[in-house]
Amino acid sequence: MARASESGLPIEPVYGPSDLDGWDPQQKLGEPGGYPFTRGVYPTMYTGRPWTMRQYAGFGTATESNARYQQLIANGTTGLSVAFDLPTQMGHDSDAPLASGEVGKVGVAIDSVDDMRVLFDGIPLDKVSTSMTINAPAALLLLMYQLVGEEQGVAADRLTGTIQNDVLKEYIARGTYIFPPKPSLRLIADIFKYCRAEIPKWNTISISGYHMAEAGASPAQEIAFTLADGIEYVRTAVAAGMDVDDFAPRLSFFFVARTTILEEVAKFRAARRIWARVMKEEFGAENPKSLMLRFHTQTAGVQLTAQQPEVNLVRVAVQGLGAVLGGTQSLHTNSFDEAIALPTDKSARLALRTQQVLAYETDVTATVDPFAGSYVVERMTDDVEAAALALMERVEDLGGAVSAIEHGFQKSEIERSAYRIAQETDSGERVVVGVNRYQLDEEEPYEPLRVDPAIEAQQAERLARLRAERDQKAVDTALAALKEAAADDTSNVLYPMKDALRARATVGEVCDALRGVWGTYVPSDTF
Ligand code: 3HC
Repeated sequence: MARASESGLPIEPVYGPSDLDGWDPQQKLGEPGGYPFTRGVYPTMYTGRPWTMRQYAGFGTATESNARYQQLIANGTTGLSVAFDLPTQMGHDSDAPLASGEVGKVGVAIDSVDDMRVLFDGIPLDKVSTSMTINAPAALLLLMYQLVGEEQGVAADRLTGTIQNDVLKEYIARGTYIFPPKPSLRLIADIFKYCRAEIPKWNTISISGYHMAEAGASPAQEIAFTLADGIEYVRTAVAAGMDVDDFAPRLSFFFVARTTILEEVAKFRAARRIWARVMKEEFGAENPKSLMLRFHTQTAGVQLTAQQPEVNLVRVAVQGLGAVLGGTQSLHTNSFDEAIALPTDKSARLALRTQQVLAYETDVTATVDPFAGSYVVERMTDDVEAAALALMERVEDLGGAVSAIEHGFQKSEIERSAYRIAQETDSGERVVVGVNRYQLDEEEPYEPLRVDPAIEAQQAERLARLRAERDQKAVDTALAALKEAAADDTSNVLYPMKDALRARATVGEVCDALRGVWGTYVPSDTF
């Protein structure tokens, strides 16, 4: 009797040669590092270099987060990944009324280039690649990173890293949007053009399925809605006059790794093959780098339990293994205590050690795409691909990702999937160890890390000092120039934005200037 996979596809008890009847490895797989990249984006994958161990981190003030980054670097992390607090993500200053209670809570508080300088104090920006999980105000954080690089004497063309910059998924899940879709897409096209001209090694966007998965999306929905967002971004940049090969090599993606690793490996392989074909056949991309779906993976936060938290160490190890078997370029492994609070130094170290065991104690880095030719994984890759393509077709029928969002399509599909998961968990059909089976009569106490609420006042003081010390006339002039550029579709807002940030305009002031011209997004209530 077949069991249903997370995507609702059958998983047969036994697979054999007949499951791959007529299956053509050359057409379906190609070579590692070759079209359609099913087997991975590089010919040698981890045999030459392990994936980037890139732990998402940040909390409190820039000083506290800088200390965590230094600790992660000392423990062997090979890439940085900045978590920002909600006021920063929503384009508000730490002393704004809306910021109250959130300053430094889910990430680091960054109000100006002064904070950015502290965040990377003692970290040479030409020696590290930095991911920044920032969307609506992504341009501001990128420009402040560039300004700090300039202060360190690092030329912009030597900066490497990624901004998430994927606002479409914010409308679908997660919610840190500011502006309506049209100006948001214009700003993203401006960022693509700016990076091509000024910061050519920067990955301009991390088109994300992670948050949709965390909201309940199945693997097929996760890649379908993510790739549909990707298609919307490519169409936007082409409509803004860019040649596809001028920006596509710097697009990147971000997916989740669930505990159901067979389907996850199939999901990653299917996503690479779909994207390669779309870029080649729909957009006529010719540069092989334009066809490569390079991605970051984070293990599934939503599958962590607060009950018996140490059991999460096992879940994260299995999920991390799935991401590696699926060919990820960069990986974040969750800390076992994240269902309870921010990771402690010890739990953050254990999460990184999990990756190091996968990279240096197992043999999964000895060979490329070990599941190639497997009856079950190749069959599941085909099945997940077919299911994802069918969903992409439905998004296309609704007029593409933005129009489908306005119809509430992706959101309602994900909510249906989330409801099914909740029902299965409540009925016990879906086992969650420690939660609905193998529970303890009494949970053991656990002392989590807490963020000091006093940091809100600290940040407010820093802002008051900054506003008192800076050249206010220069700030006003720069913000006026930014507003002018925002009102003119033919100009690139990043250039006047950089002048304003260099003059120490704050995140809130820059975003308020843009709000004044572009307005803010109000979600439609169609579900
Ligand atoms: N053969 C040849 N070259 C290789 C190679 C190999 N086997 N392996 C790596 N390389 C090269 C690459 O070509 C690259 O060089 P290039 O930039 O000149 O092309 C260099 O080595 C670095 O390799 P990658 O680009 O593969 O790895 P990176 O780690 O630098 O980049 C990425 C990976 C996915 C492309 C990038 O976009 C990235 O780092 N993304 C991270 C996104 C992230 O961390 N997001 C966190 C989000 S947290 C969140 O949102 C959740 C929260 O809300 C809860």
